[in-house]
Amino acid sequence: MFVCLCNGISDKKLRQAVRQFSPHSFQQLKKFIPVGNQCGKCARAAREIMEDELMQMPEFKETA
Ligand code: FES
Repeated sequence: MFVCLCNGISDKKLRQAVRQFSPHSFQQLKKFIPVGNQCGKCARAAREIMEDELMQMPEFKETA
């Protein structure tokens, strides 16, 4: 499923980037992958996917 149509970024690609870079914020994620940098309509969905993926990472689970 495409999350960001402007940049052709799928949820799979987004989750991959989150796992690879472990961003501390959505702003930081945007430095690694060009999501939400054009029309911005995908920002909310992309942030939710980022947070969901971070919660599934072992180092975040332990502190939650
Ligand atoms: S859909 Fe992502 S910036 Fe437009």
